Formats: sequence, structure tokens, C-alpha cells
Amino acid sequence: MLGSEGNWKAKKENLELAEKVLKSVEASGDLYREGLGMIASENIVSPLVQKVVASDLHGRYAEGLPYKRYYQGCDDFDTIEEIGINLAQEVFNTPFANIQSTSGTVSNIAALKALAKPGDSITAVSTADGGHISHARMGAVGLRDLNLSTYPWNEERMEPDIDAAAELIREIKPKIALFGQSVFLFPTPLEELANAAHEVGSTVMYDGAHVLGLIAGGCFQDPLREGADVMTGSSHKTFPGPQGGFILSSSEDPTFQRKLNSAVFPGTCSSYHLHHVTGKVIALAEFREYGASLSENTVANARAFGSALASEGFDVLAESRGYTESHQVLTRHGELDSGAGAKAARKLEDAGIITNMNMLPGDTKAMTPSGLRLGVQELTRVGMGVDEMTDVARFYARVLLENEDPKKVKNDVSAFKSNYQIIRYCFNEDERNGYPL
Ligand SMILES: Cc1ncc(COP(=O)(O)O)c(C=O)c1O
Repeated sequence: MLGSEGNWKAKKENLELAEKVLKSVEASGDLYREGLGMIASENIVSPLVQKVVASDLHGRYAEGLPYKRYYQGCDDFDTIEEIGINLAQEVFNTPFANIQSTSGTVSNIAALKALAKPGDSITAVSTADGGHISHARMGAVGLRDLNLSTYPWNEERMEPDIDAAAELIREIKPKIALFGQSVFLFPTPLEELANAAHEVGSTVMYDGAHVLGLIAGGCFQDPLREGADVMTGSSHKTFPGPQGGFILSSSEDPTFQRKLNSAVFPGTCSSYHLHHVTGKVIALAEFREYGASLSENTVANARAFGSALASEGFDVLAESRGYTESHQVLTRHGELDSGAGAKAARKLEDAGIITNMNMLPGDTKAMTPSGLRLGVQELTRVGMGVDEMTDVARFYARVLLENEDPKKVKNDVSAFKSNYQIIRYCFNEDERNGYPL
């Protein structure tokens, strides 16, 4: 009820709603603290990132770029954003970085705005083959009113069919040749495809939302040196920052760089969430220190997990390529379109293992797919290594192959997880209060 001051019954009701929300926040925290978070697009943030995300900056504005603001009161944030831009340029080894965008999707909307006009054409990976909704007509591509053609796909290798995709690019001559996926097991054969795109005057855009941390850590591929002109991404998947986005470019051209900056502000954002940008900056500093080992261990864990699941008897995709070269593993749990993936995800949740159902090659229905997409980046972050991947695969087998009561397995999952309660690969309090230099 609005305006209920003095009406104690109404006030009690509003307080109770707030209490209910607080309880749910706590319960959600407990779920992940006691369980295994294995959604490939998620991660946890370091204590220092948590601290700045909860700071006064959450309520402030800083439209513009460092030292060129429309508002007063931005001197301190100028310092923060300048440090962040410099760190992003170094960590991603690139002459241009915009760290303002509020998500991977906003980064894509801004990049599409900067690189194409309504009615232009674009080529991308279809959502059925693992492309993201922002690459589709239902998402950012449609919002910009671009004509979409999708690449022929090599199901065996889980990547664009190189010859046929290059032929499509040469035929369509798209304004933007977009690469990158949400289901992303293997590096894109980018050099060959970028050559074809540049031959016909296309701009090459690479969406590294999922694999940005692996790229920066030198453990996946290096799109900006393999032909991508622009790379977008989220700051909270394998890059272990708060929710947000990046736009990076190999271009030294100030006019092109200005276009990318103005596509974020004023193009798509007014306030760009200063507390999250500041969290990104801290995460960049921590990544510069720990990112190489975090990324290396993440990929090693994913490969070990794929292999451990296969040894348990699961149908793990891409066996001939060693299951994965990223943080993700894909498993099939029944017939195509049978909903077996959805059922498996629900049973695992009952056992304290949080995953998501996913369409696999051949599935046509997003709500009843046959597979699961699993990510190990969060488990890596709390210190698990390749040996623990065998333990985790055992929990999956008990729930899904041996049909053990998920509640019983949940107790064991929780006991196992109690050994992994410290967030690694980040600055800790002792270091900050006098690290022996
Ligand atoms: C390839 C790809 N691009 C963009 C996004 C969107 O990122 P965000 O959730 O940060 O908007 C995702 C999300 O998972 C993704 O997989």
C-alpha cells in the first residue's frame, strides 16, 4: 500500500515483504555456498570486488569519459575509470577498451550500433548451434534490424564449417561477420574466416562473453590477433568480475574508437553502473596477478571433468577432440527433444548441483532439450583441481546413473563443498595489509 505512514498494519506488511526478500537472498547464498555452482555463464566475485560493488558508487552518475564529464563530483571516479581502461588494454593486449557497458548483451547492442545501419546484413552462428540470443533476430540483431544469415555448422567439430562459412561470407558480403557462441567448446577457426570477411569489406566482430577470461589468460584463442576488429564480452563468466561488459578493439583509429565509445554512452547507457565498473577494475588488477593460472586451471579442470564423466558412463560430446578446450562440457541424457536434459538438471538441483539444460546439435526445442551445459570455472575459483573433478563426476553418476536419492547425495555434496569455502585467485586481507614486497 502506498503512503501508509502511520498505518501500522500496512507498514508491517511492507516490512514482512522486505524480510522475505532478505531471507531469499540468504537462502540463495547458502545454496551456492553448500552446493556446486556449475552454470557456465556464472562465477563468484572476490571479497574486494564485493566491497566496491556495495560502495556509495552504486548510486552515482558519471556520464562521459574520464576527465570529460557532464556532472560534477566525478574526480575520484575519473581516477578509477582511467586505471580500468589502462588495465583492460594491458590484460586484453589491445589499444582500445571501453569498460562501461553494463552487460555482454549491452556490449553487443552497442557494437552493432557502431558497426552497422538498419537494413545491413550480418552473418553469425545460429542459436541452434550455440549462438547467443543477442546474435539472433529475436535479440540485438533484430533490434538493429539487421538481415541475418547463419553459418553452415560442422556438428562433429562443434564449429563453423570453414569452407562453407567462408563461401557464405564471400557471397553475402555482410557488414558484420560475427563469431562466438554461448555453447563454446572449441576456439573458432577465426583466421580463415576473418580473411574471407576482410576480403569482402566486412568488419569482424567476436563475441567472447563466455571465454573472455580464458582469452586474457592466454588459454583459448587470441581473436584480436587472429583477425577480429572488435571483441565484446561479459565481465562475469570466465572473466571473474561483477556483472558487466567490455568492448575491445584492435583498431588504433581514433574515429573508429570514438564511434565505439559513443555507442555505449550516449548510445545505449546513461548511467553505466559505477559500482560495477569499479568492481571490474579491481577484478582486472586481480586478473593481472592471477589470471594466467586461473585460466590454465579452468581449462585443465574442464578437460578432466569431461573425461571423468565419460569414464562414469555418460555420453559426453566431442570425445574425439578431448571433450573441450574451454570451461564448458556438454552431456547428452536421452533422445533429441525428449526433455532429458531438463529432467537431469532438476535431479541434480535436488542434490545441490546447479546446472542448466541446453540444446545439443539436433535438438529443436529450447524447453525440452536432451543435454546439459556444464561449467567448471566456479569450482576452479574455490580451489578445486583435476582430482576433484573425479569426485564431482561421481556425484553426477550417483544421481543420474545409479538413481540414488538426490537428498542423500546432497548431504555428501555439502560435506565435500565445505572444504572449498575460500575464493582463490584474488587479493586477500593479509596481502593488502603489508604483503612482504
Ligand atoms: C555469447 C554470449 N554473448 C552475450 C551474452 C550476454 O551476456 P550478458 O548476460 O552479460 O548480457 C551471453 C550470455 O550468456 C553469451 O553467451
